[in-house]
Amino acid sequence: MKKKIRLGVNIDHVATLRNARNENFPNLSDVAILLTKCEVDLITVHLREDRRHILDEDVFDLKRKNFLPLNLEMASTPEMRDICIKVSPEFCCIVPEKREELTTEGGLNVRKQVKYLKEYVENIKHNGTKVSLFIDPDIDQIDAAIEVGADAVELHTGKYSLLFEKGSYKNELKRIQESAEYCAKNKIVCNAGHGLNFKNVSNISQIENISELNVGHFIVAQSLFNGLKETISKFREIINESRF
Ligand code: PXP
Repeated sequence: MKKKIRLGVNIDHVATLRNARNENFPNLSDVAILLTKCEVDLITVHLREDRRHILDEDVFDLKRKNFLPLNLEMASTPEMRDICIKVSPEFCCIVPEKREELTTEGGLNVRKQVKYLKEYVENIKHNGTKVSLFIDPDIDQIDAAIEVGADAVELHTGKYSLLFEKGSYKNELKRIQESAEYCAKNKIVCNAGHGLNFKNVSNISQIENISELNVGHFIVAQSLFNGLKETISKFREIINESRF
């Protein structure tokens, strides 16, 4: 039987808006309460090394208030490992991070740092947090993620999203489909995210072996037009309808 897809909403850009005035509006907890009233399975936040949006206290606060399971995205630095162990989120997604980038451009090269990540992932898992690695849809990277003991991978759909706009996305979609199938055969959970919106998400949610989607920028921005609840409800409708 097909399983309903899980939806994580990334609220980094609510924090971007709040930080623009250095005050506490929009308040992240108020947004998180709204999310509990929508069909959302987890709250995702990316604590970047430069703290450009989400701040340390946001992560601790969201976990303490326990609105929804928390998915902490972070770079694989010793500082982030220590924070993750202190916060103890339900999920942690390790992402590559470059200071000068506007968003997470491309997946983690797990193959290049198997030894380092194996120990890193073990430390976080030891604390009960489920770990996923944000990678490009690439079989060798999935193999490397299995080698380091990750519970899941999150396939980077950024390239697919950009190609979708140009109408030349078929090959990239195929890579995502094949990667998801490979994950299922090798019993590693497969999630996906980045650049997803009302138009391009349907192809991705049709892929049965994808368990969860993480969506941020589009949902926050589209809420200017439709409000958060309506935007999420429409997103949910699209992903449910394309799967079933
Ligand atoms: N998944 C991961 C691992 C990410 O780093 C991001 C961006 O922070 C997203 C999903 C969400 O991407 P977008 O904001 O484009 O929806």
